[in-house]
Amino acid sequence: MKNKILSSLLVATLLGGSFSLLSANGGVEDTQIGLRKTPLNDEKDVKLQDFKFGSGSAGESQKIERSYENAPPLIPHDTEGMLPITQQDNACIGCHAAEVAQDIGATPMPKSHYYDLRNKKALTDGISDSRYNCVQCHVPQAQTKPLVGNSFKPDFRNENEKHQSNLLDVINQGVK
Ligand code: HEC
Ligand code: HEC
Repeated sequence: MKNKILSSLLVATLLGGSFSLLSANGGVEDTQIGLRKTPLNDEKDVKLQDFKFGSGSAGESQKIERSYENAPPLIPHDTEGMLPITQQDNACIGCHAAEVAQDIGATPMPKSHYYDLRNKKALTDGISDSRYNCVQCHVPQAQTKPLVGNSFKPDFRNENEKHQSNLLDVINQGVK
């Protein structure tokens, strides 16, 4: 069965909680819409392309330039044996906690991670709970060819920001 997903001049009408999509021309096949070029309602032919995460282990990898000022840095080393992060086990803190990181050669977690933004309070007994799940924001990089080109160019206000962050110092800039 061919699934047709109607496109071009879509008119979405909200009727009793359900959408109906109308199109001016015949529509296009759903295989033409997604980047993976397979039917969107069927995962059976979907194959993950081969990829490798950055291969250096922690301590041997090359840091990656920040994507933009105060972007969460990408994880340059492999994460073998570190994931998933659980309530009992967070290997990342073991190396990146501010008090140990320098000795290990890891980047210390920044001030923003030791701060309770909601109550505007510096924390003295470790990071904020909202920072516990590191991989929610920090991700490893796979060596793959992007499916879509990207011409975004970050605008760093100074050279340091290409390699370090200072979000807590600048978070209110332009706000007050
Ligand atoms: C065994 C110690 C160790 C562990 C465990 C570890 N890291 Fe790292 N991490 C490092 C070191 C050392 C570096 C610096 C790059 C290098 O030397 O490989 C680094 C670099 C990074 C960077 C880049 C920082 C920058 O300035 O660009 C991020 C982000 C990061 N790690 C996140 C994590 C996360 C998230 C975890 C848990 C999944 C983790 N790390 C676990 C040691 C560790
Ligand atoms: C909610 C998103 C979020 C979570 C969760 C999070 N981070 Fe970050 N992290 C950021 C952002 C954004 C920055 C850069 C801006 C800043 O805060 O200074 C950053 C910066 C960093 C840096 C670079 C510090 C520097 O001086 O350049 C390290 C290292 C880091 N985080 C490690 C971790 C580790 C380890 C965890 C888990 C224990 C973690 N982060 C959890 C968002 C997050």
